[in-house]
Amino acid sequence: MDSILVTGGGELSGQIPIAGAKNACLTLMPATLLSDEPLTLTNAPRLSDIKTMTELLQSLGAEVTSLQDGKVLAMSSHTISNHTADYDIVRKMRASILVLGPMLARDGHAVVSLPGGCAIGARPVDLHLKALEALGAELELKDGYVHAKAPGGLKGGIVDFPLVSVGATENVLMAATLAKGTTVINNAAREPEIVDLADCLRKMGAQIDGDGTSTITVQGVDRLHGATHPVVTDRIELGTYMLAPAICGGEVELLGGRLDLVAAFCEKLDAAGISVEETDKGLKVARRNGRITAVDVVTEPFPGFPTDLQAQMMALLCTANGTSVLEEKIFENRFMHAPELIRMGAQIEVHGGTATVTGVDQLKGAPVMATDLRASVSLILAGLAAEGETVVSRVYHLDRGYEHVVGKLSAVGAKIERIKGQ
Ligand code: UD1
Repeated sequence: MDSILVTGGGELSGQIPIAGAKNACLTLMPATLLSDEPLTLTNAPRLSDIKTMTELLQSLGAEVTSLQDGKVLAMSSHTISNHTADYDIVRKMRASILVLGPMLARDGHAVVSLPGGCAIGARPVDLHLKALEALGAELELKDGYVHAKAPGGLKGGIVDFPLVSVGATENVLMAATLAKGTTVINNAAREPEIVDLADCLRKMGAQIDGDGTSTITVQGVDRLHGATHPVVTDRIELGTYMLAPAICGGEVELLGGRLDLVAAFCEKLDAAGISVEETDKGLKVARRNGRITAVDVVTEPFPGFPTDLQAQMMALLCTANGTSVLEEKIFENRFMHAPELIRMGAQIEVHGGTATVTGVDQLKGAPVMATDLRASVSLILAGLAAEGETVVSRVYHLDRGYEHVVGKLSAVGAKIERIKGQ
């Protein structure tokens, strides 16, 4: 298995291009199942999760062709020839559940394995299922699979989410586009990826209002048609690389970066002593001077501070002047990077959903193990700031969500290389 070797020290300078959003692409791809006409996505990221979704869609009978070195995905679901999403594929990635709503909406039946994905808490799919039931779906759980039927088709309904779920909002939003009548989704997620999905669905002929707010209204239509859509910028990749000069010093421009995607995160960077400036190509980030200041962080649904940047932010705060408190409100068990950062000399105490980080002068390189996607990149960031060498193993987590991480960081002067496994 491959690992990543990072040698700490040295300021960074230059430019990093930001890819299309993994999480947007993973919900835009299943939208192809809603129409018998082609859907083409541009600005797609080159990631193993995208390959997994490709494999899943192909197993259902969709044609998915990767063009321009993977940046363009040409998809076509003339018919859905198989309505079962098999455990062997679904277990690799939780977002696989997103094929359920579209298949059910288009053909009135689907069987989908219960998902796997990052080991960051229980992560059930009950909200997805209840939302589809509100649209008239009949569901049965058998042998680890959800068997869903909608004889006579889905019907518009009222969906009241008890808590905000990105995936459940996406699933029911896609399903509602082909349901008969009007669907109102209350307490909907407001993430930019939801707005991106709604934009794409509108291009396909869907009638959607209110995306980006907590109430989305969908007027069902008889059929959707083909479209071409660019995937929105990856705000998590953006935030991750904004932290690289913040941790190491120097100045880096993130090409394609947009402030509106990372506003809450930028407020915390500002409080920590990191300057963020809009340029005509993206965002420029620099450490103002000296040691960064401790800040408290609470993760929340968008527009709050994203849980997907919590691990990386913790890496930054490990060397801050003072004590920071990070509260994780979205997922339980999402501090698995803390013990690894402690191996690098960080001072962190975790109690339930709260981590207290007391900054140290200097982190020290160590062999560490990635436990999930965002945890792995937080260890790389910490390694950039540490004295000596850090080897991050279990790099397959990283490959799920960061394209060319070694190339992108080396281009701004980081000492980082991939070591091929035996
Ligand atoms: C998506 C993102 C993930 C991000 C998360 C929160 C994708 C592919 N993944 O995941 O990177 O960390 O949003 O921003 O877009 N929950 C339930 N029942 C459900 C669904 C969710 O209890 O049926 C809970 C979850 O356990 C969690 C919370 O709701 O505590 C939010 O999860 P959700 O927004 O659904 O996350 P995902 O869509 O899986």
